[in-house]
Amino acid sequence: MNTIAQTYKMFIVAGARPNFMKIAPIIRELRQGSYPFEYKLVHTGQHYDKEMSDVFFEELEIPSPDYHLEVGSGSHAEQTAKVMLRFEEICLKDRPDLVMVVGDVNSTLACSIVAKKLGIKVAHVEAGLRSGDITMPEEVNRIVTDSISDYFFVTEKSGVSHLLAEGKRKDSIFFVGHVMIDNLFHQVEKLKHLAPTAFETTIFKQRNPSYGVVTLHRPSNVDSPETLAGIVEALTEVSTVLPLIFPIHPRTQANIQKFGLTIPDSIVTTKPLSYMEFLNLFKDARMVLTDSGGIQEETTALGVPCITLRDNTERPITVEEGTNAIVGSDPARIVAEARKVLSGSGAARKKPELWDGKASARILSVLSDAMRAD
Ligand code: UD1
Repeated sequence: MNTIAQTYKMFIVAGARPNFMKIAPIIRELRQGSYPFEYKLVHTGQHYDKEMSDVFFEELEIPSPDYHLEVGSGSHAEQTAKVMLRFEEICLKDRPDLVMVVGDVNSTLACSIVAKKLGIKVAHVEAGLRSGDITMPEEVNRIVTDSISDYFFVTEKSGVSHLLAEGKRKDSIFFVGHVMIDNLFHQVEKLKHLAPTAFETTIFKQRNPSYGVVTLHRPSNVDSPETLAGIVEALTEVSTVLPLIFPIHPRTQANIQKFGLTIPDSIVTTKPLSYMEFLNLFKDARMVLTDSGGIQEETTALGVPCITLRDNTERPITVEEGTNAIVGSDPARIVAEARKVLSGSGAARKKPELWDGKASARILSVLSDAMRAD
């Protein structure tokens, strides 16, 4: 007699740009491996522009979402509330057994709350990270999501310590490495087979054998005219010795115009870049100056020096073992660190434990066992 193996319905949630590179390797692994999951992809539509969303689906080989909630921009409350309302509707209709959320954006928080209140299990991928800075919207999202999740998948050991200190059960915490690094390695391999002409920034690379890459979008850096002006001043000074390329996030672009700031010619600005175009740029950079979370980790994984324009990081392994230096937004400190990197005395490099391209498989194997045991 044939027995039909039980399968579980899983919703995988993605909302904003930094989520897409985390769900891509999980979906790839689900398609290749044999796991007891029937999954549906939910795109909340927190990011919706072609450059902030669609191009990532294409390049990262993510299938079209089964549900698109089309929430768009708004205040934090508005955006979170819209995701909650629309996500609840589809959860009630489709009744998943498990909801997987990744990262720390508003969609992560909104969907974990909805699932939990409907009695659906929640798996949080990239759990346990803490910056200690509660003024960061992402820190609130991380703390709330972790306070109600059932399964915690952790990228670095600091995350395990935080979750234990917050009273989570040891057997619900899994140190598995980093899905974003699974994706990074996959895309680096793909890049080897692409012609340089595939990229618009190739001309910049050819003209500038040594260059730096800048990204900035954090409200604490770009919403205050003084802070943003100070950062632009520091970048301008760095660009006198190292040409910079700066793909500009929509929030930053709007504020540069609003505050009447000028970017000099030694800093080439572009629209937000696709994943592959950005990877092709930063992997060969002399340094990256950023306030992103994920880029601190991707530069560590590839051994590229990273200067982080924030006062803290929720990813301390990138400083302890990787290539990252935390300098804040003070112009003099930014310039001094850039000079240090240029003089060759930047951070030493060691690839963090389990950042080996196999995190997605570990996660799905843990979740398969957990669902079967439940
Ligand atoms: C969000 C995440 C942040 C992540 C960042 C990456 C939260 C709290 N923040 O911040 O963790 O690092 O994404 O980009 O979830 N906009 C567009 N097109 C889009 C999306 C946004 O033009 O597709 C504009 C809107 O004017 C919007 C602004 O960018 O007001 C900011 O977008 P929003 O999603 O609110 O937050 P991010 O700053 O992108």
